[in-house]
Amino acid sequence: MDSFELNKIMGAILGTCLGLLSLNIAANAIFHPAVPAKPGYAIAVPEKPAGGDPKGAPAQQEPPIEQLLASADLARGETSHNKCVSCHTFDKGGRNLVGPNLYGVIGREKGSEAGFNYSAAFKKMKGPWTVQELSDFIKNPKLMVPGTSMTYAGIPRASERADLILFLNSKSDKPQNLKAAQAK
Ligand code: HEC
Repeated sequence: MDSFELNKIMGAILGTCLGLLSLNIAANAIFHPAVPAKPGYAIAVPEKPAGGDPKGAPAQQEPPIEQLLASADLARGETSHNKCVSCHTFDKGGRNLVGPNLYGVIGREKGSEAGFNYSAAFKKMKGPWTVQELSDFIKNPKLMVPGTSMTYAGIPRASERADLILFLNSKSDKPQNLKAAQAK
């Protein structure tokens, strides 16, 4: 077999392939197979309760923070507070960093730390921080206070927030008995 003959054979094979390809394209164009947006079968499964929805959707299933505080753990809270130390100090007289010093923040008037320049959104806030409000804020700062300058995504897990709040409570002149509060 000389190379000319080989060329003819290859040409024939190539031609057949091209022919099949154009047939396929033409068939697709004519018949439009309906490809579902999602492959597979759609099976209706009830949504899970929005327990720890990181987007902060109203989570009715979440137990109240007072209840979670009963099983909160100070040591775990101390570990968890490391997520905040790049922006906050927690000790008495600690400096304001990117965020205000948080010593005694439970029961402290919102947005009131001396020498800290709060965002316009925060300056409008009134009243002392309650445990529930702190939990809501730490869960999703931007959801609770739209326009806050606290650029932190938040802690979705309620039990971790309870640990952290127990830690915040320990950093205070007059810590509250948060574990007993829920028994009332
Ligand atoms: C990236 C920096 C940053 C991180 C991380 C951060 N914060 Fe903040 N935080 C801020 C800033 C800035 C403000 C002031 C918000 C404003 O003025 O809008 C603030 C405000 C607060 C306030 C309100 C204080 C007041 O005086 O009313 C609390 C409470 C708070 N942060 C708790 C936390 C906790 C708890 C964590 C860790 C889980 C945390 N923050 C992590 C920057 C941060």
